[in-house]
Amino acid sequence: MSNKPSAPIGIYDSGVGGLTVLRAVRSLLPDEDLIYFADQANVPYGNRSLNEVRGLAEGAASFFISQGAKLIVIACNTASAAALKHLRGLFPDYPFVGMEPAVKPAAEQTLSGKVGVLATPSTFQGELYASVVERFAHDVQLYQATCPGLVQQIENGHLNTPQTRKILEDALEPMLQEGVDTLVMGCTHFPFVIPLISEIAGGKVNVIDPAPAIARQVKRVLETRGLLTKRIRAGKMVFLTSGDAEKMQVLLPKLIAVEAEVEQLLWEGGTLRVL
Ligand code: DGL
Repeated sequence: MSNKPSAPIGIYDSGVGGLTVLRAVRSLLPDEDLIYFADQANVPYGNRSLNEVRGLAEGAASFFISQGAKLIVIACNTASAAALKHLRGLFPDYPFVGMEPAVKPAAEQTLSGKVGVLATPSTFQGELYASVVERFAHDVQLYQATCPGLVQQIENGHLNTPQTRKILEDALEPMLQEGVDTLVMGCTHFPFVIPLISEIAGGKVNVIDPAPAIARQVKRVLETRGLLTKRIRAGKMVFLTSGDAEKMQVLLPKLIAVEAEVEQLLWEGGTLRVL
């Protein structure tokens, strides 16, 4: 790996979605080194079985640990639903930060009592979502949509094309008609289309992107464990993909205004190897 980072934070998603989380972590903790891994050989995760995603997440976590990462952010709701509990069991003392759909803040903020959640089918099927609903959605009505095809549109950089708009209109119009006033981004890819969502909703919805809260959680965990970096310089960032490195490299400036080389990883069985 070129430009080897030291004691980095590992950030992982099926694709470019977790970059919404990386952006927030970078902005809160600019001195930290970061390694981002996009498992684009296997994206989208959202239609895969939870079992299959668990295996992939285990491979990604083992890779980060082998690279000396001091904390791993599972910046993917689907992988968190499938694997967070499993990974914490497997590496009991190791700090993981995962995603769960932000139903709690949505339930606190809605005025109409109607909340929309956009997430993948696997996220909706997982125990984590069921437990979030049970804990926080007593007094609100939830409307769920999976937005088929949206993850792929975002992977292709199509943030505001007619097809992307159609997918979002199909998901949002029925909810908006029911009076949904708060929308949870339950998939880390989706914050990239918040401008389009706001356009479709005519500014009438409050959209909750959990990334800043996740970044604060990363900071808290590092602080508690005395793991915050003491270096004062811009942290290094390394970007890795198991898919098409050139394609991701072209997308980085468009998605997060970063120009960086993207390096290739290969799956060998359940193990990730640097090319
Ligand atoms: N970004 C992901 C999530 O938060 C996964 C999307 C996918 O691969 O289907 O769920």
